[in-house]
Amino acid sequence: MAAKAWGGVFSEATDRRVEQFTESVSFDHRLYTQDIEGSIAHARMLAEVGLLTADECRQIEQGLGDIRAEIEGKRFRFTVELEDVHMHIERALIDRIGDVGRKLHTGRSRNDQVSTDMRLWVREAIDRIDGRLVDVQAAFVGRCESDIDCILPGYTHLQRAQPVLAPHYWLAYCEKFQRDRQRLADCRRRANVLSLGAAALAGTSLPIDRHHVARQLHFEAVAANSLDVSSDRDFVLEFAFVLTVIAEHLSTWAEEWILWSTAEFNFLKLPQAFCTGSSIMPQKVNPDVLELIRGKTARVVGNLQALLVLLKGLPLAYNRDLQEDKPRLFDSFDTVDASLELAAPLVAGAELKRQAIADRLDRGYLDATTLMEYLIRRGVPQRTAHGIVGRLVRKAMDRDIRLSDLSLTEFQEEFPEFDVGVFAILGVEKAIAAMQSYGSTAPAEVRKQVECWKTRIASDRDAPRAE
Ligand code: ARG
Repeated sequence: MAAKAWGGVFSEATDRRVEQFTESVSFDHRLYTQDIEGSIAHARMLAEVGLLTADECRQIEQGLGDIRAEIEGKRFRFTVELEDVHMHIERALIDRIGDVGRKLHTGRSRNDQVSTDMRLWVREAIDRIDGRLVDVQAAFVGRCESDIDCILPGYTHLQRAQPVLAPHYWLAYCEKFQRDRQRLADCRRRANVLSLGAAALAGTSLPIDRHHVARQLHFEAVAANSLDVSSDRDFVLEFAFVLTVIAEHLSTWAEEWILWSTAEFNFLKLPQAFCTGSSIMPQKVNPDVLELIRGKTARVVGNLQALLVLLKGLPLAYNRDLQEDKPRLFDSFDTVDASLELAAPLVAGAELKRQAIADRLDRGYLDATTLMEYLIRRGVPQRTAHGIVGRLVRKAMDRDIRLSDLSLTEFQEEFPEFDVGVFAILGVEKAIAAMQSYGSTAPAEVRKQVECWKTRIASDRDAPRAE
């Protein structure tokens, strides 16, 4: 039986089932880098304020470095008896350097330690997701120039609505992911606060210097209330939320491209390396990756829900319930990370089926709104113009023809002032060319946005996030 670090007051050994039930090392072992980094900063501070000698600090640093190498080399043994990653590393240190190792936990508790580890982990995880989002944005931006002349039907209610340029679609997703990046940056600021030194809940009577630790670990601030920070998992919730929004964005994109790759839409050919086949139907090339990006969103949403319920109603300060935050957050991170990793090459590798799209672009009266706006420019009130065009569309629909197939007389039956000029504004190309508002699908506007995005991506790639 391994003696527990907290065993002093106990006269009975822990039940094995309790060890199995309470352990977290099976999932928190992935915090080992952060745990060691935090411990080294803590030890250096203890030496700085005289709670360790310089030599003791050196031994601790050396020991922790060796343990890191052992874990990285897969030579380290994790066991449930030692509960969590913090206990494992501390025990391994004591085994290596003896009594000096027993001083490392001076002025801290696992409560502020686990919070610090999580903050360090979240900070890195945010940067990783941010980089992946830029990769997906770059994939969309990267295809804008070659797709600039491709017109797609735009939809509302999944009914054909108005024509849009393909890059207008691509940049719509870039905007969504940009807001996700802003949310990540905002979440990062609140995660980037040092909790270490809050100790168990009340702080410590030892003369620690928390600012010293904060500087070493590049935290922007030191948490001002030990009781608050020992229980605070807002940053976990926030990150889980931002990951959920990213997953939702990926899921809507995946759904759209699954539809677009069907024979019914026939807009897209997905790269075969990112599709899978059927074991019974030889002809099938299925969009399984997109389906799983959509499907895995469910677990990310579920994790957020679980975290919200987990944190509801916990009294101050630390409660063991908090241990349950890790599997949920790690799973959301892993899921979104993997989805983003696959999204970038899928975006870059899909081919627009230009001919098939163009062949059906005159279906669905995509030019009706432009026709209405043509009348508005000629002084017809919007509601009246809407009615006129509605009746014209009805006429065309009844004969299954385009608006441009109606005769001038038929136009004039609904509005006598129509002249042959009307034919110059009908058709999807002309509807696109007529657009002019900021943020619209007007070719000049889209080109400007493409340029903005190219510059933005290039500078985001050059300038890694400052801490
Ligand atoms: N494994 C624990 C967690 O994840 C570490 C903190 C435990 N603290 C305690 N006093 N039992 O929250």
